[in-house]
Amino acid sequence: MTSAPRPLVAGNWKMNGTLAGAAELASGLAKLADAQSSSPCDILVCTPAHVLVPVFDLIRGTSISLGAQDCHVEASGAHTGDLSAEMLQDVGCSYVIVGHSERRTNHGETDSQVCEKAVAARRAGLIPVVCVGETEAQRDAGEALAIVGRQLADSLPDGTTASNTVVAYEPVWAIGTGRTPTSEEIADVHDAMRSQIGERFGADSEQLRLLYGGSVNPGNAQEIMSITNVDGGLVGGASLKAETFWPIVEAFG
Ligand code: 13P
Repeated sequence: MTSAPRPLVAGNWKMNGTLAGAAELASGLAKLADAQSSSPCDILVCTPAHVLVPVFDLIRGTSISLGAQDCHVEASGAHTGDLSAEMLQDVGCSYVIVGHSERRTNHGETDSQVCEKAVAARRAGLIPVVCVGETEAQRDAGEALAIVGRQLADSLPDGTTASNTVVAYEPVWAIGTGRTPTSEEIADVHDAMRSQIGERFGADSEQLRLLYGGSVNPGNAQEIMSITNVDGGLVGGASLKAETFWPIVEAFG
């Protein structure tokens, strides 16, 4: 039996924060990371684009990695307002979230576009955090496993390995609502994702990190991390303050 993957706790700051606020949060997290004798899990902050550079300067040399929240599929060109994976890599990112449900909903991103973004991320040497998750109506209709299965099949590119990809299961109805699935519901989805990934990508994918996201907080992190096949968390609201993000890091470590 292989050991469980090293956990990853990722903060998704979404569209929040001023330069000053981001600097305060990043330096607070850097201090906490420096105070650890060894880091119990991998730690990632995915900031809005305008603070990637100053945040990188503050966390550089600590155990915290930098990520972005989206990327364009092309490396450069006439794409006003977009950032390429290469640009993100250039300013210190090592990860990028792709296919977050807010982008799927607000920008109509499809599974095949998400897949292309994951390919672009890899091309630039970034690890894509590929997000999937069902809506409340889909869960109520008993379709959660089918929806997540289809998203996973169509959003993960060929050549996916444990070291070049992270997957995040984020039920849309649990994001920012304070509601979470039961441990059994999370386990059902994560077990199904693990099997599906294993069938397609082989034994190496046992080490591919499967994160849970959606209303993770210091109060429920311990229980969520104890679920089999949950290898970390993707945290929104609770990642905006060191006092709420750090206990989650410690729970997963
Ligand atoms: P919340 O933790 O605020 O529910 O957000 C989850 C999320 O969307 C992280 O990507």
